[in-house]
Amino acid sequence: MEFSVKSGSPEKQRSACIVVGVFEPRRLSAIAEQLDEISEGYISNLLRRGDLEGKSGQMLLLHHVPNILSERVLLVGCGKERELDERQYRQIISKTISTLNETGSMEAVCFLSELHVKGRDTYWKVRQAIEATQDCLYSFNSLKTRKEEPRRPLRKIVFNVPTRRELPIGERAINHALAIAKGITSCKNVANMPPNICNPAYLAEQAQMLDSNYDNVSTKIVNEEEMAELGMGSYLAVGRGSVNESLMSIIKYDGAGDDSKPLVLVGKGLTFDSGGISLKPGAGMDEMKYDMGGAAGVLGAMHALAELALPINVIGILAGCENMPSSNAYRPGDILTTMSGQTVEVLNTDAEGRLVLCDALTYVERFDPELVIDVATLTGACVVALGGHATALFSSHNPLAHELLNASEQSGDRAWRMPLWDDYQDQLESPFADFTNLGGKEAGAITAACFLSRFTKKYNWAHLDIAGTAWRGGKNKGSTGRPVSMLTQFLLNRSGAEQGE
Ligand code: BES
Ligand code: MN
Ligand code: ZN
Repeated sequence: MEFSVKSGSPEKQRSACIVVGVFEPRRLSAIAEQLDEISEGYISNLLRRGDLEGKSGQMLLLHHVPNILSERVLLVGCGKERELDERQYRQIISKTISTLNETGSMEAVCFLSELHVKGRDTYWKVRQAIEATQDCLYSFNSLKTRKEEPRRPLRKIVFNVPTRRELPIGERAINHALAIAKGITSCKNVANMPPNICNPAYLAEQAQMLDSNYDNVSTKIVNEEEMAELGMGSYLAVGRGSVNESLMSIIKYDGAGDDSKPLVLVGKGLTFDSGGISLKPGAGMDEMKYDMGGAAGVLGAMHALAELALPINVIGILAGCENMPSSNAYRPGDILTTMSGQTVEVLNTDAEGRLVLCDALTYVERFDPELVIDVATLTGACVVALGGHATALFSSHNPLAHELLNASEQSGDRAWRMPLWDDYQDQLESPFADFTNLGGKEAGAITAACFLSRFTKKYNWAHLDIAGTAWRGGKNKGSTGRPVSMLTQFLLNRSGAEQGE
């Protein structure tokens, strides 16, 4: 898909389709008003006849509008003008894209980027429109023998901006959005891949691919033998029941060109989580292929970062592993020695994410990180608490928490902060080891974060539980590509890159 920006008036466009907004009740946007004048009231007549109320997401496709050079005009309902917010804006764009894809228009000039969205500038509107478009057009069909493609797919969209002065801002928004969309697409592609194909070795190959494709990326893989030498007893235990070897990928992006401290992202990469000996119930177990969503998110963010060529140093870790039952598997009751030296009593082999992450989090100490953010589909309790709308954010470092909340607000990839008070730590007490891997039935997302906090004392750290946000179940099952957008926004902000005005 090709994107561009321009600043022109609607009647002068010679396109397959121009897209303009109509507010509720039957009120023309400024651009629609211009078209109406040129067409001698054609549009306002239609509205008066009741063809379009302007409710958010309503669509009306017009052909041969008098005096208009474009072949089609798509009127898009935008709801009440004063109520147009970020979420509605994105929904309107998505709906528009699906409609355009069905009309047979191969190109379109879209004026929705000129709508007023409270507190948002042209940069934001163009970037969000492109991210929403790419999200809407994504499909995972590489494993279908018969692929369904639209007959005349949309190829090109021009977003109009109000003034010529804003053209460079629009172009910057396109560049950023395309890089982020690339990252989101790689995240979705690996996450959607079935677990018989996407195993820890496959994850490592994806990490190697970034190394091959970008000059300033270098990837190293740590295998089980090396993990054993490092003393990663906890990570190794989780993978022991699987014939697929655990592999941890270290993706180094060197953008600063100096030895400034790296930002470190660590992703939980359980390519399948059966629960192990504490086997999960059968219903919906297929969705546990998405238990590598954290690693997919880190991979996506690293991809976007390499595309953007930001002047910072970042290290991405994909902690690849498979949790399976077998006679060789770790069991409830086992006491593991973590790389940090702390011992853990396993009370449930399904609380495996924290056991993999804790060793990865100790491993990254060697990089003397500026900060560490781990990303994980860690707990079902997180889904109960926040559903599919917000990622749970935990951090012992307030400035980092606020930076991440800001990035989530800017990108629309939402996060919500949860407490990490010491009061919850007691739930991890063990009679036999330093602590257990199970916090009991209350506050499961928090006790999981508390577990990780015991391994992150040496640096500034935040934890993102993406169990609810990384994928959608049901009829539209699939990876969401989250939290690539939020992480990349965080990196953009960190690098001091120019964005809006
Ligand atoms: N990967 C799961 C968490 C999960 C469950 C994410 C459902 C998304 C949807 C994790 O490894 C897990 O199994 N957690 C257990 C922890 C419990 C045994 C303390 C859970 O949440 O049930
Ligand atoms: Mn589990
Ligand atoms: Zn898991």
